[in-house]
Order: sequence, then C-alpha cells, then structure tokens
Amino acid sequence: CGIIGYVGPSSNPAEILMSGLSTLEYRGYDSAGIAVANSSLDVEKREGELEMLEQSVATSQFSGNVGIGHTRWSTHGPPSDRNAHPHTDTDESVAVVHNGIIENYQELRDELHAEGVIFSSDTDSEVVPHLVAKHLKEGDDPETAFQRAVDRLEGSYALACVVEGEDAIFAAREDSPLVLGIGEEGYYLASDVPAFLEYTRDVVYLDDGEFVTLREDGYTVSKDGHPVEKEIKTVNWSAEQTGKSGYDHFMLKEIHEQPASLRQCLSGRIDELAGHIVVEELDELEAPRRVHFVACGTSYHASLYAAALLRDAGVPATATLASEFATADPPLPNGTLVVGITQSGETADTMSALRDANSRGAETLALTNVVGSTAARECDHVLYIRAGPEIGVAATKTFSSQLIGANLLVEKLLGKTTTSRELIESLRDLPSNVQAILDDSNAEEIVDEYLDSTAYFFIGRGLHFPVALEGALKFKEITYEHAEGFAAGELKHGPLALVTANTPVFAVVTGNDENARKTIGNVKEVEARGAPVIVVTDGQSDAERYADAVLKIPETHERVAPLLANIQLQLVAYHMANRLGRSIDKPRNLAKSVTVE
Ligand code: G6P
Repeated sequence: CGIIGYVGPSSNPAEILMSGLSTLEYRGYDSAGIAVANSSLDVEKREGELEMLEQSVATSQFSGNVGIGHTRWSTHGPPSDRNAHPHTDTDESVAVVHNGIIENYQELRDELHAEGVIFSSDTDSEVVPHLVAKHLKEGDDPETAFQRAVDRLEGSYALACVVEGEDAIFAAREDSPLVLGIGEEGYYLASDVPAFLEYTRDVVYLDDGEFVTLREDGYTVSKDGHPVEKEIKTVNWSAEQTGKSGYDHFMLKEIHEQPASLRQCLSGRIDELAGHIVVEELDELEAPRRVHFVACGTSYHASLYAAALLRDAGVPATATLASEFATADPPLPNGTLVVGITQSGETADTMSALRDANSRGAETLALTNVVGSTAARECDHVLYIRAGPEIGVAATKTFSSQLIGANLLVEKLLGKTTTSRELIESLRDLPSNVQAILDDSNAEEIVDEYLDSTAYFFIGRGLHFPVALEGALKFKEITYEHAEGFAAGELKHGPLALVTANTPVFAVVTGNDENARKTIGNVKEVEARGAPVIVVTDGQSDAERYADAVLKIPETHERVAPLLANIQLQLVAYHMANRLGRSIDKPRNLAKSVTVE
C-alpha cells in the first residue's frame, strides 16, 4: 500500500495528495482515499483504480491545508469503498491511513466493541481511529491520544493520522517504511520517496519506534518520549529511477524488499511462546489424505518444494505443471486437496487445473498474492502470501513468500499443535538473514568472471532441487543466456555431456549431511571436467574446497536454507542481465501474468 501526507500553505492539498497517490499507484490499486482536515474533516474514498477517486475528488470541496491519502493493496477484507482508507472514528473527527498488519486487532476490536463502538469496515486498521478518538474523549491532546493509541498496537505499521480542528499530521512507524519530505513550501510524509519528489528532494527516513508530528511551521521526531535529531538527506535520483525508489530496476527493488515482505508474510502467524504456527484463514480446513499441487513457472518450483515438505512428513503429495494437469489426469480420490500456487491468482493454466479439480469433487485451495483474484474467489480456501505488488516480470519476492506460505500451509495441514523450535527460530531470523545476504553478496563480482560462457547450469538435491530449477529459470528469463537446472544426482545421466570449461555450474550445498556429501561428489564430477564451480553454501561442509567462487549464506534450518540460497541466485541472474544490458523488468516475449492456455 502507499501513504502520502501534506501540511503546508497550499490551499489545495487534495491536488498534492492525488499527485502523490498517482506515483504510488503501483504499490496497490484496489482502492484509494484522501482526508483533508481543518475545522472540519473531509474524507473521500473509492474502490477501484485511482481514476475512480479522481472523479469524486474533482466534484468535492476540501477546505484545510493538512491532508493524508492512501492507495490500498488488500491484506484484510476485500477491496470496497468501506474497506478503503482513510478510516475514521464514529464521529468522523479522526482519520487514519495505515500500511502493515495490526496483529492484535481482534482483541482491540472486541474491547472497543464492548465499549459501544460500531465498526464500519472489515479492516484491522479501523481500530486506530477509534482508539485515538477514545483517548481524545478522555481529555488527551491529539498528539498524546495518537501516541497512546499506537502504544496499544502489535504488528507492523506505517500510520498517519489527522484530527478535526488540528493543523497537524501525527505519524508513526514500525516495520513498514515511512519518510518525511522537507520542502520549502510545506512538509510531506510518504511510504516511498517518489510520492513527493516533485516537490522536494530533501528527506528524513524514519526508523522503527519513532513518532513524528508535522505542522506548517516544523516537525518533531521522538522515540520513547524523547526527541530524536534526524539527519536530512538529499535524494539524487534520475527521473527513471524515481518510480523504483532509487533502484535501477523494479526487480532489484523487489529483491531488496524481501526482508520486509517476508516479515509481512509471517506477521501474526507465528506464536513463539506456544511454539506453533497460526493460520486462522485455514481453521475450517480439515487435514487432507493427500495433496496435489498445480502451478506454472516460478510457482511450480514453489510447488515442488511444498510437495517435498509434505512427503517428508508422511503425507502423499505431488506437484504437476498446471498445463499438464488435464492430460496427466491424476486420480483424485476422496480426501484429496488440490492446491494452486499462483502469484497473480489469474494464470489461465492454473485456473483451468483448479476448475477441473473442483468439478471432479476435490477440495481446492489457492496460495496467492492477490486478494480477490480469480483463484482466491473460486477456491474453497485461500492463504495469502502478502508480498505486496510485484512489478518485475521475473518473480523474486513472491517466490520467497511462496516458500514461507508453503511452510505455513504444511504445518497447518499436518494439524500440528507444535512446530519445531529450530524452525520457528529460523523463521523469526529469516528477514535479518536475508538482509545480511543483500548487504554482503558478492554476486555482482562473480558474474563478471563468467560473462562469455556458453551455458550456465544450476544443481541441487532434495529441497535445493527446486532452487536449482528456479535459479536457472530466473537466469534464462532475464539474461537470455542458456541456463538449465538439474537434480545434482542426475548430471551423470546425461547433462554431464554438456559440461565444459565454458559452462559454469552453480551448486547449492548446505548442511553437512548425506545430501551435502553427495552433492559435493557431483561438484567434483564437474570440476574434473574443467567446469568453473560456484557454490552457494552455509560453510558447514567442505564444498568451498572444490569451488572457484563462493556465495555465502547464513546457517539456518534445512527448510529455510533453500530460500536463502535462492536470494543469492536472484542476485546472480540480476547482475548478469544488467551486465549484458538486458531489459530486466520486461524480458522479451514474457508476460507477468499469462491469461491464455
Ligand atoms: C508467467 C510469469 C512467471 C510466473 C508464471 C506463473 O509465466 O512470467 O514469472 O511464474 O506466469 O504465474 P502465477 O501468477 O500463476 O504465479
């Protein structure tokens, strides 16, 4: 979702807010709204594309010089006028926009409901204006009322709030980006710099736990009740980089969004104290006897991974390419759950397989990123991966979140009351481990060595096999070079004939078990044929000894290691394509979502 805020001398803040929302539109586009405050509070919000809101704003009167706006990507509740932001309290004297997920919203909602508050949306966000209003009624000044409300929240948020009769914006952040723009003509607030870049290049990045109050004559930042001095930075992005928040490509931006998108995927879904996974959306789902995954492209690789997890736990599970489902015509005996993994929720091949399964009496479930998508609407159950919009055609952050979604799903399907402590801890540490890889990766230097190779191979075993396939798919999609992924043990049954000194082999080896030892054996086979070897490893085995180059990942649970390894391979594909000057965000002949069979 996207947030914008403005306070300053302009008599037409609605115009500034709308222009900010139009640059943020790529962050979410299922509904949008603005609120402008002075002695009264005027709110306009609409389901659908920004154009819908533009039409109603054009015919409305806004008075005041303080305002906030929002463009939404649903996480709670379907897109609709009432679920659009800003949300208000019952008297419409407080308006709030929110990005993120409030984990304890149900508890707060119940508490407010018991005090007589009537809710008018299905969102988690609406608890905030009601809490602020409650503290205002108790006699707090608006700044204190807002801070007390935020103190009650658990989860992730970027919040901005305006109050009737108050020329100020109150804002706070925790695990969701928020940045100030310091203009000559007023102050701005946004989830992403491009929203106000037209007005100023001077920015202040807020950190977790910070509160900010913006008024026409200045701003204050505080944390734990103490003022914080913030540095003003100047952004020097080209017009082309602007929409990508300073990155050269959406793909790179999305690769770097993964710590945040994974945090969002896991938010409220791990009960660390009780040691289990919480997936309320699937409470109605009974444990199936067997599971059949259908998917295409990157999502198919996530399916291979998910099926392997289930088989490992003793549940019969298979993954089929959705386009092969009809001809494969697999038996779907009673108790079969058919799971469609689909980022967009619109892929024609996947939809056709799901519909086929449904007509044959199987229960269906969609693991998807898009709330209200066709798959989400048509399946019996849905689990959202909450990765946020992905613009780059080559899937990156959504693949990572699919792997985590697969873990959540599997724990739920197994009806487990407890999940291993090691897995829970690895999931908890995942965002920071991904960040560590992004900070330290040497992928860019490594690809420089191998720009002129004839082909690129990717090998992995067990849960790393889908990662080898995905590594190769990403590579071929955006570099246009020949790349193949193989099960490490399968090399000797054919592909080895292709291996020469001119075919770098990327091998994923983590841990130090039988799987790792066997893969190292395969590494030696290609090394003996003169191929350069790049290992992606956590350093537990001696794989590095046989490697020409190493891409390091932190040690973690064996189920999480494939995700970390994949981040390095995303960077390999990206930097190679960049060096070759390819069209990274829109590779030739490919579409983000393929709606024909
Ligand atoms: C297209 C995209 C791929 C994607 C596949 C499945 O081919 O280019 O990146 O993996 O569709 O898309 P879905 O939305 O179903 O995950």
